[in-house]
Amino acid sequence: MSERVVVVPDFETMSQSAADSIFEAIRRTPSLLICAATGSTPTRTYGLLAECCTRSPELFRRVRIIKLDEWCGLNADDPASCEMYLQQHLVQPLKISGDRYIAFRSNPENRQAECERIAGALAHKGPIDLAILGIGVNGHIGFNEPHAVFAAHAHVSELALESRQHAMLSKSTVDNPQELVRYGLTLGMSDLLQARQVIILASGSSKRQSLQRMLDTSATEPASPASFLWQHHTNAVCICDQAAMQDDHRDAALL
Ligand code: F6R
Repeated sequence: MSERVVVVPDFETMSQSAADSIFEAIRRTPSLLICAATGSTPTRTYGLLAECCTRSPELFRRVRIIKLDEWCGLNADDPASCEMYLQQHLVQPLKISGDRYIAFRSNPENRQAECERIAGALAHKGPIDLAILGIGVNGHIGFNEPHAVFAAHAHVSELALESRQHAMLSKSTVDNPQELVRYGLTLGMSDLLQARQVIILASGSSKRQSLQRMLDTSATEPASPASFLWQHHTNAVCICDQAAMQDDHRDAALL
């Protein structure tokens, strides 16, 4: 097992370990640009950042956030939107001012123009210093879905069926969000490959298959986005809990 993989006993330890890495990165680079995924996996990590910010607000005064992705078709105030999630878990608790927050607008009229706006902002203010990512059950990263060719920068992505069944969408107030939400806006593979540091988090048995596939660098099948990033990024670590790790990898790097 590669030393890039850290297996910890449970979700809480995974979250603490990720939060510690983020604190360290902020101490090194106070204006750190963090690319933040939403979803259940990083929620406690973000909670630990928020707790730290209450104790030491000065640490976060220059931190910047870029939203990794957004569902198309949901308004910003929909409880299932990535915007709502980030506002609740990061932007407000860490008091990130508007000039330190780069985010796809929710439900833009012109999706392509919105992607171009975000690509321009990242070209100007990037690259990402630290990307905090979760892995999808189908191996997606952000809304980069399994395809033969990956898009480099911010783009409109047609969502895979598994992604439209994501638990986040069940919080939506619209009827039948799985039917309504067919596309997402997401940063692209090059944006993530150019990030100075990447932390991929995985928790729970539902991630076993996609995690196994990501770590199996000998796989010859077309790469999942997670495997592609894992194989090609030179400074990526994976922090996962035992439940997400297959049995044959469990002992290898247990903290
Ligand atoms: C969400 C995102 C997705 C999730 C992934 C895992 O912003 O980028 O790629 O990270 O679907 O979601 P959870 O953590 O809910 O299992």
